[in-house]
Amino acid sequence: MLITFEGIDGAGKSTQVKKLKKHLTEKGHEVLTLREPGGTIVAEKIRDLLLESKHEITPVGELLLFSASRAELVQNVIMPELERNKVVILDRFYDSTTAYQGYGRGLDLQVLERINSISSFGLEPDLTFFLDISPEDALIRKFSEKSIPLAFEENELDRMESSGLAFYQKVRNGYLKLAESNKRFVLLNASEKPHDIHSQIVAKLNAMT
Ligand code: TYD
Repeated sequence: MLITFEGIDGAGKSTQVKKLKKHLTEKGHEVLTLREPGGTIVAEKIRDLLLESKHEITPVGELLLFSASRAELVQNVIMPELERNKVVILDRFYDSTTAYQGYGRGLDLQVLERINSISSFGLEPDLTFFLDISPEDALIRKFSEKSIPLAFEENELDRMESSGLAFYQKVRNGYLKLAESNKRFVLLNASEKPHDIHSQIVAKLNAMT
């Protein structure tokens, strides 16, 4: 089973991934958690290029780098682990590409659909939890986690995070559209307490099985 988590930066995905992993492990499942971009030696190098580099990358270059990282992870890790009947929980998958490079950067959505299908070898998540939060609230949360004041130095942010609030608004709208049109999406209010969000996730999974 493949479960993905989506949302803008600061939505609290990693907390929910950890809680779900603990829950499923206690229920006797073998669980593997991964995050994109990254997860193999080559994919981690691509991650550094994408996030740490302060050099500009064109939107198409960015798209192809995220997709290259995904292809490495899917073929070398995710597919073999799914074949071993593991539950794979993935912090971001190709819906991030649709939201960020499609709705955020403005690349053609039909082209993205094709590239997403190629980079994931046609693999589709069974369930996608979308943690929805406004970019303003996400930013406040992000800074309180890193314990840095809101009057921040720009270099505290990675390359994607430096894209600004208007960009994140477009990304969020993209996610909302995806959630509306895809049955595998579960929309969750990320401003609620982490424990309550986790309960909703567990309830959804219980209803499915
Ligand atoms: P990361 O530090 O993993 O952020 P988060 O904790 O929010 O998941 O950085 C991943 C960044 O890359 C994040 O800003 C989203 C972006 N991204 C894309 O733009 N497209 C993609 O296809 C993926 C997987 C991530």
